[in-house]
Amino acid sequence: MERPLTQHITFPPLGLRQYEAVGGYQAVRKAVRHMEPKDVTALVKEANMRGRGGAGFSTGMKWSFVPMDVPGPKYLVANADEMEPGTFKDRWLLEGNPHQLIEGMIVSAYAIQATESFVFLRWAYKQAAVEIRKAIAEAYDAGYLGKNILGTDYSLEMHLHTGVGRYMCGEETALLNSLEGKRATPRAKPPFPQVSGLFGRPTIVNNVETLSYIPHIVNHGVAWFQSLSRTADGGTKIYGVSGRVNKPGAWELPMGVTMRELIEEHAGGMQNGYRFRGVLPGGASTDFLVEEHMDVQMDFTGVAAAGSRLGTGTMVVLDDRTCPVGFVHNLEHFFSQESCGFCTPCREGLPWTEKLLWAIEQGKGREEDLALLASHATLLGPGNTFCALAPGAMEPLQSALKYFKEDFEQHIKHKKCPYHD
Ligand SMILES: Cc1cc2nc3c(=O)[nH]c(=O)nc-3n(C[C@H](O)[C@H](O)[C@H](O)COP(=O)(O)O)c2cc1C
Ligand code: SF4
Repeated sequence: MERPLTQHITFPPLGLRQYEAVGGYQAVRKAVRHMEPKDVTALVKEANMRGRGGAGFSTGMKWSFVPMDVPGPKYLVANADEMEPGTFKDRWLLEGNPHQLIEGMIVSAYAIQATESFVFLRWAYKQAAVEIRKAIAEAYDAGYLGKNILGTDYSLEMHLHTGVGRYMCGEETALLNSLEGKRATPRAKPPFPQVSGLFGRPTIVNNVETLSYIPHIVNHGVAWFQSLSRTADGGTKIYGVSGRVNKPGAWELPMGVTMRELIEEHAGGMQNGYRFRGVLPGGASTDFLVEEHMDVQMDFTGVAAAGSRLGTGTMVVLDDRTCPVGFVHNLEHFFSQESCGFCTPCREGLPWTEKLLWAIEQGKGREEDLALLASHATLLGPGNTFCALAPGAMEPLQSALKYFKEDFEQHIKHKKCPYHD
């Protein structure tokens, strides 16, 4: 099968000349010399490219919200903050083929006529920073960045910006505040960044994987992109599996591959002595799915119909020898630490949730704690907090209460964790 995103990933990555030798920067040539910006946007829209940062919003549609007739600067930002526990796909792209991302950024920036662009990189990704910095410098030297790209009227600057190491900085409006040198709290929407983003100017924020697809769509077209997928969502997807499986890893596969294929074939099944109990299908902020969902097609619609989210497409497997309460407590500890503190339900509610889970895990839980946890899951759910961090944090909890309720009850009844002596 075709693996457009990952076939040229190498460590160390391809330098500019090597990348050009395998067809690199042809999409920049094609777009800036032979296509109108609006035609690039229309192509991406028609390809049914859905953003790979978590929410799965149509990429072309998002770009089409940028007002093209207003004078002044516009910006494009690659969201490379990747701090969701269990998620590591963007790191693979950043370290393994930085030119692919930069090429995707140039074409995307051209589509919205951005004049400046930024790679907002997770601070801990030190090697990625080295590779991106080098690739940006090479792209400038070759005339793909800077003034009058390839002799055309189009000019674009690109900067690498390393973040402060907070999960919150990945939320697109908090990211923009951080880029402006302010505290990384989210902004009220509307206005959406497409209209009023960085320094109040029209801005597009896209995920690294999303941007890395763009050159391939421009080079090969809509029918080809659609042919890569088994479902209506276009393209391939980088899927990952971690947990007690034989071969944890990440693979580029057709969109719509089933969970069973991912766990049993690609990840080599469960390790000896461990049974599958459940999975967070799209990183730490998604609802658990269980055995009955094994044949769900892993695209945005399929996973949503099963009661969860495709999210980042990177799965975390729970086995039968790991305590679900301890597992969820660990996640809530992370989310509670990462709350930006801006709104009360999240600032107060997440530490409470963590405390209750810790008490249950320690055998100090009370029967009424389960109803309290369930009410927290609603109070911190969608619509009750300023951004999606707290509702995301509640997804593993609410689904654990649904699928692993007897584990919670055992802790309370026997006043100890049944998974530990
Ligand atoms: C707390 C939080 C953290 C996020 N972290 C990331 C991240 O690290 N990378 C990312 O691309 N999107 C992240 N997102 C989603 C972004 O806000 C945004 O939807 C995404 O970058 C859009 O890109 P896309 O349209 O290409 O999917 C996060 C959202 C929330 C609420
Ligand atoms: S939900 Fe949490 S992270 Fe989001 S704004 Fe409120 S306090 Fe901050």
